[in-house]
Amino acid sequence: MMNRRPLVIANWKMNKLPSESAAYIQKIENPLKRYPDVIPVLAGQDVLLPAMVEAAKNTAISIGAENMYWQDRGAFTGETSPAALEDLGISYVIIGHSERRNYFRETDEKVNLKAQAALQHNLIPIIAIDEAIKPRDDNDRSHWVVNEVIESLEGIPAEVVKSVIIAYEPTAAIGSGQAMTPALAQFSLRRIRLTLADMYDWDVANAVRIMYGGSVKPENAYELMIQDDIDGVLVGDSALNPDNFIELCQVAN
Ligand code: G3P
Repeated sequence: MMNRRPLVIANWKMNKLPSESAAYIQKIENPLKRYPDVIPVLAGQDVLLPAMVEAAKNTAISIGAENMYWQDRGAFTGETSPAALEDLGISYVIIGHSERRNYFRETDEKVNLKAQAALQHNLIPIIAIDEAIKPRDDNDRSHWVVNEVIESLEGIPAEVVKSVIIAYEPTAAIGSGQAMTPALAQFSLRRIRLTLADMYDWDVANAVRIMYGGSVKPENAYELMIQDDIDGVLVGDSALNPDNFIELCQVAN
């Protein structure tokens, strides 16, 4: 792995309550001090974010949103603007998660608009790349992944794209309890890094952090994290437990 600091990002999805956020953060704050190389991030649903930001103040824990709109303000009932997330002190935002692509018809075009808006508001976009279809073979997998990367990053200049995080989350692995094999995950992440080198150059490709997500647990994280192109893990179910989050940061350190 190049000198890219490893990330452990919890995606709480539509779980947890505002009243549970502070206890989780207080439980992980001190143990994480043993793993200073790791960047810990907690992403929660919008209604949790003020409590999460308040509890994470003066800690090394960053807070992320799970989605956002691409306009700053306007008649978009129910949406959350990047300006509001920035004003709240949010640092990261997950964009284009497969659950949003599948349930809410999020397209690569919308992902691109959201990624550009996030970058304009000092938010680090975590762009989720998945195989919305079940790949027939490795070639099919590569084709699908490459296209999503190209479409999602359209128009984002080299100096700006270096701060983007890409999270590869094979749909079949999400929530299944069965992570992709480390070798296959490395194959797909390498394809993503090669695509970045083709789109920009190797300076960019080596700077962008690429993560794996899909049934990551403390038991399987080590084999994934030692892969050359895996710079971190994006974790759902397992990270709902603060003890698992601490263990994942220990593995990543
Ligand atoms: O964004 C991470 C998530 O989609 C993975 O979920 O439950 O398979 O770890 P899970």
